[in-house]
Amino acid sequence: MRKPIFGGNWKMHKAIREAETLAREIRLKLEGWGKAEVVIFPPFTALKTVSGVLSGSSIGLGAQNMFWEKEGAFTGEISPLMLKDVGCSWVILGHSERRKYFGETDELVNRKLKAALHFKLSPVVCVGETLEERKKGREEEVVEGQIRESLRGISPQEAEKIVIAYEPVWAIGTGVVATPEEAQRMHQFIRKLLGEIFSPSVGEKIRIQYGGSVKPENIRGLMAQEDVDGALVGGASLEANSFVEIVKGGCL
Ligand code: PGA
Repeated sequence: MRKPIFGGNWKMHKAIREAETLAREIRLKLEGWGKAEVVIFPPFTALKTVSGVLSGSSIGLGAQNMFWEKEGAFTGEISPLMLKDVGCSWVILGHSERRKYFGETDELVNRKLKAALHFKLSPVVCVGETLEERKKGREEEVVEGQIRESLRGISPQEAEKIVIAYEPVWAIGTGVVATPEEAQRMHQFIRKLLGEIFSPSVGEKIRIQYGGSVKPENIRGLMAQEDVDGALVGGASLEANSFVEIVKGGCL
């Protein structure tokens, strides 16, 4: 049985005090509730404060990106060790906004993934096709390439620790969510591919989140699908009520 996992990706939102309040509200509303794993991903500047708020709770803390070296002359970058130092146990890698605005390639994601695993940070690796790619019927080919390249050189034991987030780019921040059937088709495809790359039993263990315009109103249909193991939530995670409704609604 795969334990469902829900992530709140706050992106470039929330000043420190706002982040503190939001994290506190989420913690309060989820106190004593353990049906799913929950991780929040505040911006770097709020990590330390949120880490304090979450201390002693079961809610995990993660960063939205990182560099692969542990230290050095890399102006503007944050290392895996720095993330651990501030209390993170998770990191998002290869989000489509990183790929689109900062030119992140599968090769860079692969380096970051290896560093995350080396330093014992749990990675969420994001994949997903653009609208154009989908219109051309290339979604499986694109996602297969992203997975094969990003996970290159990873052992089956390491692979079990990875969470994949399938986030079709056309659904991110657009209000256009994939239908449960569309999500299931891609998740099933990804699981089969992971089974081929590693082994069928590893494929069965790896959790695959859906991301892209997840809301309290659509989470149940998505979570009813066999291969959807949780969600990575952007906009709707910026407010405690809607995020917690998604988390709890997804586990009914
Ligand atoms: P969204 O973002 O929920 O605002 O569509 C999801 C994501 O980018 O992880």
